[in-house]
Amino acid sequence: MNILDVIKKKRDGNALSEQEIRWAIDAYTAGDVRDYQAAALLMAVFINGLDDRELWAWTSAMLQSGSTVDLSGLKGPKVDKHSTGGVGDKISIPLAPLAAAIGVNVPMISGRGLGHTGGTLDKLESIPGFDTRLSIDAFVRTVREVGVAMIGQTGELAPADRKLYALRDVTATVESIPLICASIMSKKLAEGIDGLVLDVKTGSGAFMKTLNDSRKLARTLVGIGKSAGVRTVALITNMNQPLGRFVGNALEVRESIDILRGQGPDDTTELTLTLAGYMAYVGGLVDDAGQGRALAQAALADGRALEKFRQMVAAQHGDPRVADDPDVMASAAHRKEVVADKSGFVAAIDTVAVGMAGVLLGGGRLAKEDPIDPAVGMEVFKTVGDPVKKGDVLLEIHYNDDKRLEEAVGMILGAYQVAETPPEKQPLIYEVIE
Ligand code: URA
Repeated sequence: MNILDVIKKKRDGNALSEQEIRWAIDAYTAGDVRDYQAAALLMAVFINGLDDRELWAWTSAMLQSGSTVDLSGLKGPKVDKHSTGGVGDKISIPLAPLAAAIGVNVPMISGRGLGHTGGTLDKLESIPGFDTRLSIDAFVRTVREVGVAMIGQTGELAPADRKLYALRDVTATVESIPLICASIMSKKLAEGIDGLVLDVKTGSGAFMKTLNDSRKLARTLVGIGKSAGVRTVALITNMNQPLGRFVGNALEVRESIDILRGQGPDDTTELTLTLAGYMAYVGGLVDDAGQGRALAQAALADGRALEKFRQMVAAQHGDPRVADDPDVMASAAHRKEVVADKSGFVAAIDTVAVGMAGVLLGGGRLAKEDPIDPAVGMEVFKTVGDPVKKGDVLLEIHYNDDKRLEEAVGMILGAYQVAETPPEKQPLIYEVIE
């Protein structure tokens, strides 16, 4: 086969065969196809798309470019959750132990924060000693013994995606629904799961800004799950404002512990319980997600979920005292209140700007190798729809280094839109796609 013929065929709007896709992906992973040729093929896909058959061939070629986790010896369902990302989205941290507490095995492989979005691995690493780099053997052992483990992507799983994603990042080919879906699903399917719950974010802080695009993304992801024989459900959820009360790595772990104690904010608690209900449902433990939610509620109320979190932290070499005393994590030396400059109602929040303000203060990273300060973040006091009076605290910044503080304050003030009339109420969960 010849890469030029494959590029030309896709450039001209024709469908590629399964053999052509598999060959191109294998040859690129092996280094036999050059970056500039793969970039041309990616752009042809970006422009002309992939039909369902091509998309499945592309996803399975990426999946089979590496090894898959063998969880076949585990009793009970193996289910993961994936979020398309946002600001304040700490849900995986309370959700994974909660789902494990009701009988779901949770082999969760997560990512780091980049740009305005946070990453579960960075948050977990705020817990002193917590090791997100377990070997695959230790990962499987921990899931078997505890019911849950949370680690980072390893080089063995879907290596084609690692190479292609890096190339997409520098060739303006990230925002393609088929490429995003193949990328996410090749990594998730490599975990050896039999069920998957997707939290597809929509709104100002999400990858997909409109409900229509989020719906397309969700349907495509669910379609790939179906082709792979993995029971997959997608929830489309609100990312028009930071999720929950805290943004920032250690602060989000604190909120996660509050959720596990039954003392979390309404929105993050509700989303955690609902997603746990769907994990039990796709795992076949219950007949519907409502029954699963009731199981999850009981496990929060009687402390089993918090105990599972404590066990997971200990198994991954973290300090388990964090479950009872979050002060073992770093906290920032200084705080700065950001106050409303006029009265009215919070009409909208530019969530990307809030996330980027946190990044400027050291709470996130702009380049993959940037260090982060786990203590940096913010507490959100006013959210969309809230009445505000001039001088009310909108949000409080937690910081250590004031070099870019004024810039961050300006970004947050600019992010809050205050209007004379209240906005229409927005749902937390828009739709469920099965
Ligand atoms: N996340 C991924 O893993 N891949 C994409 O392409 C986009 C988001």
